[in-house]
Amino acid sequence: MIKKVLLALSLALAAVSAHADEGMWLPSLIGSRIKDMRSKGFRLTAEDIYSVNKASMKDAVVLFGGGCTGEFVSAEGLLLTNHHCGYGSIQQLSSVERDYLSDGFWASSREDELPVPGLSVSILVRMEDVTERVAAGEKPADIVAAAEKDGHKADVQQMYYGNQQFLFVYDVFRDVRLVGAPPSSIGKFGGDTDNWVWPRHTGDFSVFRVYAGADNRPAGYSNDNRPYRPKRHFTVSTRGVEEGDFTMIYGFPGSTQEYVTSDAVEYVAEVSDPMKIALRTQRLDIIAAAQAEDAAVRIQYASKHASIANAWKKWQGEVLGLRRLGTVGKKRAYERRFAAWAASRPEYAHLLDSIHAAYEAVRPEYYIAELYSESVGAIEVFSRAQSLADIRSRVAGDAQFADAALGTQPSFLKDYNAGIDRAVASRMIAEFMQRMPAGEVPAEFAAAVSERGGVDAYVGYLFDNTVLTRETFTAAEFDADPVVRMAAMLAPLRTRMAAVRARNLSDIPEVRRWYTPYMRALMEWDTGRAFFPDANLTLRVAYGSVAGYEYADGEYHRPVSTLEGVIEKDNPDIYDYDVPQCLRDMHAAQDYGRWGCDVDGRRTVPVCFIATNHTSGGNSGSPVLNGRGELVGINFDRTWRSTMSDMEFDPAICRNIAVDIRYVLFVIDRIGGASYLLEEMDIR
Ligand code: ARG
Ligand code: ASP
Repeated sequence: MIKKVLLALSLALAAVSAHADEGMWLPSLIGSRIKDMRSKGFRLTAEDIYSVNKASMKDAVVLFGGGCTGEFVSAEGLLLTNHHCGYGSIQQLSSVERDYLSDGFWASSREDELPVPGLSVSILVRMEDVTERVAAGEKPADIVAAAEKDGHKADVQQMYYGNQQFLFVYDVFRDVRLVGAPPSSIGKFGGDTDNWVWPRHTGDFSVFRVYAGADNRPAGYSNDNRPYRPKRHFTVSTRGVEEGDFTMIYGFPGSTQEYVTSDAVEYVAEVSDPMKIALRTQRLDIIAAAQAEDAAVRIQYASKHASIANAWKKWQGEVLGLRRLGTVGKKRAYERRFAAWAASRPEYAHLLDSIHAAYEAVRPEYYIAELYSESVGAIEVFSRAQSLADIRSRVAGDAQFADAALGTQPSFLKDYNAGIDRAVASRMIAEFMQRMPAGEVPAEFAAAVSERGGVDAYVGYLFDNTVLTRETFTAAEFDADPVVRMAAMLAPLRTRMAAVRARNLSDIPEVRRWYTPYMRALMEWDTGRAFFPDANLTLRVAYGSVAGYEYADGEYHRPVSTLEGVIEKDNPDIYDYDVPQCLRDMHAAQDYGRWGCDVDGRRTVPVCFIATNHTSGGNSGSPVLNGRGELVGINFDRTWRSTMSDMEFDPAICRNIAVDIRYVLFVIDRIGGASYLLEEMDIR
């Protein structure tokens, strides 16, 4: 059996007819793509990208925190990532007196670099195909344990729904320090309005440094630690990019579902995304209205609004994209062809029916789980009650519980507005009751709501009486709290939902088990297709080229943006478009120093560019490299209408968005006044 799998895999990997630029490839297997890459402008070898024997590009790429990518740009551990990836760290180190989010931060020497407690950076030491070892009976846990012997962190990840198993071995560094960040008026320029949008003018980068022990190995924070000396760091190219230039992205995409059947796509496009979008629209409207009324609330809810809006906008693009591409219909046709082939193969003939039946069985429950977390789960004081109730059941005495609860109460209240939450609660409970399938709302809860005379009255009662929005309360008050009682009434539902908790519908074990043989069958059948494993937050290579696209009929969007666009968007009255004065002055004087260049006969500074690389969430902060493997940009986004690439990549419209490395250097040098940082980089 295993021989057959491997044969199917190697046949699949040998095929070169991937759709142009689609794919997120495993670096250790990049050899199968090198010919195609070189035909598109890559000048280096597979060994340059990934090697176990010598330093290679992979040694310069890191998993930043738990969901972004970063890259080394100096021999002394200097690291670049996005501003939005460093946002939490920058916020954590900020205070009213030292507001690094608003003002930016630049360490003036190594001593001034700020340790970020809790932040880690993981560097891939090696990856290894362990499929045959697992098939021969070795336990993944034992493989991991053996790999972790010398202080590494390891895991075994499945590719192709378990048809391939890879061991990943990392070094995890926990002494990571903030070196620099632009003010949000550059790093988050355009805010949520421009988020997922091209043309873009955001300087979305921040700078960190990794520290290690005297032996250059990972070590907990210490004054004695020294800058980590990476095996490899990227050379920075200031030659810039033009339409058509080869680009490669090396990073950690989080999650895609390229091989799921039509049922799963239909669920996303017609059920799940629309429900989540509708609920978030209402929340965002409530929050935005309150923010417009009150400047303090605007700041308080800035980060919450940003994260609610981020996925909300992405899903809208995904729905549009999937419908525009007709992904469901295409998949149905593909499945019909597969079924005809599989009909004479007993081990595969039943698969589509089995997958379909599994979806029918788990989908209602999964929908309830999603609805639950997007509706009542979005009520802040309710989820606070839930997490405190969890603590209540864990800690022994009343006094201990009160200590634990009150200890975190200030941080909960800091960015909390009860007026917003009350309005959200009214809407979300109403939506929850209405959208839940008949008979599924826990009876006790439905009764409690109607006893009070309906949702609004019930919510009024909750918010007039809860103690959870106060600075202090006793354990007895907590136990009698109406929101805590609501959490208790809904607890059975929450417990039930734990059974379908999965990254997505197709990852629920009952469904997923059928994808293992289905994936194998697809590879055996569809020999002309270049299969790549779905993203799963492991290191990948994507390649493509700098390219504009037709945004609408007759409306072509060029692939590069410049400082001219920043100044055109400048508006001191709108927080997200308030350009820093020093930048206005430099623009007025065209005083760009070595960073100025001519675009269309005009002296300016390049800011962002788009390309055809297949990326996903997690690729933020990834190095964008030219054909020589030099750093030309930092990836940070996609256009929202191309976010269906998580399920179907369309080379005509899917574009990733990067900040031009020349803008990064310009901001470090001219806005940050931190030109000493450039001295440790290799700039060409
Ligand atoms: N869209 C980017 C990605 O999905 C996030 C950009 C963060 N910026 C913002 N304005 N919310 O993560
Ligand atoms: N902005 C995303 C990230 O943070 C990237 C994307 O979804 O394209 O990883």
